[in-house]
Amino acid sequence: MANLFSEFRVKNMALKNRIVMAPMCMYTADTDGKAKDWHYTHYTSRAAGGTGLIILEATAVEKRGRISDWDLGIWSGEHIEGLRRLVDGCHSNGAKIGVQLAHAGRKSQAAADYPIAPSPIPYDHNYRTPKEMNKADIEAAVESFRAGAERANEAGFDTIEIHAAHGYLINEFLSPLTNHRTDEYGGSMENRARFLKDILQAVASVWPEEKPVIVRVSAEEFVEGGNRPEDLANILNLIKGEGIDLVNVSTGGVVNVSPEGYPGYQIRHAEIIRQNTGLPVIAGGLITSPLMAEEIIRNERADLIFLGRELLRNPYWPLQAARELQHDIEWPKQYRRAKS
Ligand SMILES: Cc1cc2nc3c(=O)[nH]c(=O)nc-3n(C[C@H](O)[C@H](O)[C@H](O)COP(=O)(O)O)c2cc1C
Repeated sequence: MANLFSEFRVKNMALKNRIVMAPMCMYTADTDGKAKDWHYTHYTSRAAGGTGLIILEATAVEKRGRISDWDLGIWSGEHIEGLRRLVDGCHSNGAKIGVQLAHAGRKSQAAADYPIAPSPIPYDHNYRTPKEMNKADIEAAVESFRAGAERANEAGFDTIEIHAAHGYLINEFLSPLTNHRTDEYGGSMENRARFLKDILQAVASVWPEEKPVIVRVSAEEFVEGGNRPEDLANILNLIKGEGIDLVNVSTGGVVNVSPEGYPGYQIRHAEIIRQNTGLPVIAGGLITSPLMAEEIIRNERADLIFLGRELLRNPYWPLQAARELQHDIEWPKQYRRAKS
């Protein structure tokens, strides 16, 4: 009996197992941000492969919030139809599905627009200097997250993940390294958390109460003066009452430093967030083996695990993991002859 294959419920989203597909940009949309056949094949394959929850790649809430010109978008009603196709395709293959609502801030390299950020500091010499956001820019960005959540609901997503990690716009407000503001959006931890708090409140006005909201954070910035897991836990404690149901714990991306990863390198960060906030967490990072995933869940180090690159290598990882852990799960009927 593998705990990795036990059910998990958060609000009205019931997952058949603890395996989450991490959001991963495919940079495959056209400049209009619409989902294509590639996205359908990519996401529905992981659904057929037994993943419990699929989180769609960073999907831009406004055009200038794209990382590249080829990001998926949710900044217009015209995106809903393509996204709904992905939702329906994943549902009919037995998975739940969420979308990562994203704004790249100073890390946008989309050609059409200038990037915006809490402070006018470029990421590095390859990036443009962002425009420092004024109050109107902040209100417009918050509104774009609200509208994105509304469209996500129309498309039928089971959950939304607010991308507050990897040095993108929300993370730029949270981090003292990138937020040098002197108004109510900068300085103290409470002020740096205000932008995310505003977004959560705006999202709550349109996102159904019974559907969960996930927030993805970078719990470690790997540089002196940057946020540590305990800081992120404190930030989350300040704002969790605004409607955070699950935290997806990642690290890095705020400044251009990337320490070498190793299997499980982010699990201890997730444990700290889980213990200090009392919120359920999704943990991951270089998980490749079913036994490793089972250890994390069984020892209650995290509530769910995410897989990124391993699911790119093998869309059927969950089916194979169940076999390896000798746990009997339902296979797609078309594949049953390969089960034993
Ligand atoms: C191709 C690729 C694209 C990614 N795009 C995103 C993204 O859109 N949003 C995000 O939060 N993380 C993104 N990530 C990070 C992954 O979600 C995940 O945290 C990371 O790959 C570590 O997990 P892994 O070792 O299982 O791959 C991306 C990673 C990869 C490999």
